[in-house]
Parts: sequence; C-alpha cells; structure tokens
Amino acid sequence: MRKKIVAGNWKMNKTLVESQALITEIRGIVRDENTNKAEVIVCPTFLALPSASKLLDGSTVKLGAQNCHFEESGAYTGELSASMLKSVGVSHVIIGHSERRQYFHETNEMLAKKTTAAVNQALTVLFCVGETLQERESGSHFDIIKSQISEGLFHLSAKDMSLIVVAYEPVWAIGTGLTASSEQAEEVHAFIRTLLAEKFGEAISEEVSILYGGSVKPDNAAELFSQKNIDGGLIGGAALKARDFFDIIKAIK
Ligand code: PGA
Repeated sequence: MRKKIVAGNWKMNKTLVESQALITEIRGIVRDENTNKAEVIVCPTFLALPSASKLLDGSTVKLGAQNCHFEESGAYTGELSASMLKSVGVSHVIIGHSERRQYFHETNEMLAKKTTAAVNQALTVLFCVGETLQERESGSHFDIIKSQISEGLFHLSAKDMSLIVVAYEPVWAIGTGLTASSEQAEEVHAFIRTLLAEKFGEAISEEVSILYGGSVKPDNAAELFSQKNIDGGLIGGAALKARDFFDIIKAIK
C-alpha cells in the first residue's frame, strides 16, 4: 500500500523564533492526537532547519526543505546542496515548485539535475508539477504535465523511484482560494500514474504517492483525499496554522 502523506510548505514565512513555536505546536498535536494514517512532513525555511531538526528529534514528524542546488558544493552564492540539507537532519526536499519554476526560471532540465542530486543523498523528493490557468484553458495541461514528469523524472532508475513523491499543484489553485475540483484533480493524478506505469511499470507506479496541492483547507481536504489516486496533500497557507494543518492531516482516512 502506498504511503499517505501530508506535507506543509511554509514558503518564505516565519522568523526563526516563530518557526520554532510552530514546529513545537505541530509536534505536540501530532504526538497527542495523531491517527498515524498519514506521514507528516514540515518544510520551513532553510534558516529554521537545524533547530527544527533538534525540535523534531524523537517525533514522527519528518523535516523537509523547499529547494536545493544540483551541485554538491562550489561557487553558487546563496545556494545550498542536498548533502548540506542531509547534514542537518533533513529527509525530504521539495523540487520544482511552481514558484521556483516561475520566479526563479527553473527549467525541467535543471530540475532533473536537482532530483538526481537529492536522490544521491537518499533524500525523498516532493516533485511538483502543474499547469497555469492559460494552459488549462487552452487544453494543453496534459501535455505540460507529461513534459514536466518525463523531463524531470524519467532519467531516474526504477529503484530511485522509491524516493519520489509527486505533487500535482495547478498553478491557478495555489494561494488563490480556487481549488481544483476533486474530479479535475483525480483526472490528472490518474494521468500521472499512467505516465509512471508506462515508463517504470505498473508495480512501481502503484507505489508512488501523488499529492494534491493548491488551496487545500480543512473543509475541502476530505473530499480531495477520498479520490483513488490522491494520496495526500502539499499544503501552503493552511500549513502555517497548527490546528488547520492538523485538521487536514485528520482528513486522511
Ligand atoms: P496553498 O499552497 O495551499 O497556499 O495554495 C500550496 C503550495 O504552493 O504548495
């Protein structure tokens, strides 16, 4: 059975002290109330990772980063490598978030290299794909998703795929309050699983968790998570409030 996952992407939010407070709160709620149906991951800013790692010691909550560079080290001012993340206790990394693609011009080619770098450090990758509103309206969303998946992941081995989680995040639904309907999301999730099956075989495609992201809230999570190919969520805004985040975790059945 593939894993159910709820991951919080904090983006560029929270100072160090605020991050420590939120991590502590989430850790406490998960310890006291968790139903253990979902793996819980929090992805604070780089700055907060070392202390988050200490605060999560002994907890089931996993720690993720929001990005990494594709080289191990070198003259890349302002960047961090996968091995550096690993060295502070990070186990997961988000790669290819639409904000990285859009504002920092990360290409599929670059993201393929980042994915390799992360997998080489045995980090689990939360690999994001998703179409813009214009792409959906013009009917090209399946082509866009196909090229994001094939160019970003198809260089990996079947064995590497055990470290890949896919997140489908329609750009038009991120931070906008517009959620894809559960039918729209399920249609794309099923399509992604078919692409993975064609490349890596049915058995492997059935093991890859595919998360939905884009304005997931406590009141729409259960409906989305009830779909056959939706294995959890990547949560932005609602992950910044411990209670909302936990109510979303509880929506995993
Ligand atoms: P949102 O963000 O939940 O605030 O829409 C999701 C994401 O960008 O991962």
